[in-house]
Amino acid sequence: MQELRVGVLGFGVVGRGVVELLLTQGALLQQRTGVRLRLVRIATRTPSRNGDLALGEVELTDDLQRVVAAEDIDVVVEVIGGLEPARSLLEQALRSGKHVVTANKALLAMHGADLVPLAVANRCELMFEAAVAGAIPIIKVLRESLAANRIDQLYGILNGTCNYILTEMRERGSSFADVLRDAQAKGFAEADPSFDVDGIDAAHKLVLLAAIAFGSYPDFSQVHIEGIRHVSDVDIQWATEMGYRIKLLGIAKQDAEGVELRVQPTLVPVSSMVASVEGVYNAVFVRGHAAGTTMYHGRGAGERPTASAVVADLVEIARNWRVGCVGRVAAFSCLSENLRAFPVRATDEWRGEYYLRLAVADRPGVLAEVTRVLAEHQISLDAIHQKGRSAVAAVPLIMVTHATTERQIRLALREIEGLDAVQETPRFIRIEPSVV
Ligand code: HSE
Repeated sequence: MQELRVGVLGFGVVGRGVVELLLTQGALLQQRTGVRLRLVRIATRTPSRNGDLALGEVELTDDLQRVVAAEDIDVVVEVIGGLEPARSLLEQALRSGKHVVTANKALLAMHGADLVPLAVANRCELMFEAAVAGAIPIIKVLRESLAANRIDQLYGILNGTCNYILTEMRERGSSFADVLRDAQAKGFAEADPSFDVDGIDAAHKLVLLAAIAFGSYPDFSQVHIEGIRHVSDVDIQWATEMGYRIKLLGIAKQDAEGVELRVQPTLVPVSSMVASVEGVYNAVFVRGHAAGTTMYHGRGAGERPTASAVVADLVEIARNWRVGCVGRVAAFSCLSENLRAFPVRATDEWRGEYYLRLAVADRPGVLAEVTRVLAEHQISLDAIHQKGRSAVAAVPLIMVTHATTERQIRLALREIEGLDAVQETPRFIRIEPSVV
């Protein structure tokens, strides 16, 4: 029986899941690949036995070089995360001819354009199914199952922490700060939640999906990123009342004029499938010219779901290796020489419908002043709501526009903010009425 020798970098939550799967599912993996996937070594800076896993002959070391530079390792699994030392270690592994499986979305989003050619030059596989949406096999779907399609649009819920927070805010009627504090206490959100709640984690994932779908290297600098800190419970209540849910979506669109890449809180119709994705779940929707829209749903994080994707990559490497093949499927689907830069459309040119929330003085003529400004900017309204009365405090004025450009919205809101009756900076949230 041929043997593929595996070394794991990192022994946190995902590392533990990978080790457990390799140790307990060896016979099944062998039946499926014809190869013995032998876990040789785990390297972590803080080697503790990590719970009750019986590691048997598997070596546990704090010397990361014992994985990336060792003669007795064929494949390196990187589950440390972060840019350094992960980047240097993986470069070293690839230069020494080792295949790499990584769950590191930040690294690929920032440095995929360097790592992929390095892998190709060294005739190594560089696989990263676990980097996007955990257990959902969306990378394989885009690269292989939908390979016959021109893809003009994909969107999804790519961050479980944000989806959990938005779901809880709606169900409990609580503020962002309260739900975040609870989520941290329960271990559902990181102590430093900024990567998640500021949309950065979702943007890393989006740029990888877009690169594969549109045939480019990932260019993280081209993603417009807005997180969920500014979504208030008032917005969530109004969205619900008007037949919407608010979701943090990653959206990638392509047409003849360019590409839009954005992570943003978005109003979606309550009747849509994406609205029904709740709690920590992820979902990705892909529109291909031949397949139409397909949807992929599942767990986007966690020990076993993420390990499932890592080990699936090991299975693919083992299968290829058994028949003496490498680089069968290019990392970003198109061969390197066919990848091109994204022509990215400026945010000003984006077109869509908008939800607007103002805090205004409750006196005659205010609505007329606001709608005059909107009319001057050619913005047509679909709905206006105002509830509550106050002789002293501001009251919320909620509006939904017809399709317009982002330039018009921004110019109009700047002018509206200058009106005497407007007492806070106006807020807007984009609406995607045509999601499925
Ligand atoms: N922290 C991410 C999430 C999972 O909440 O979805 C890892 O990318």
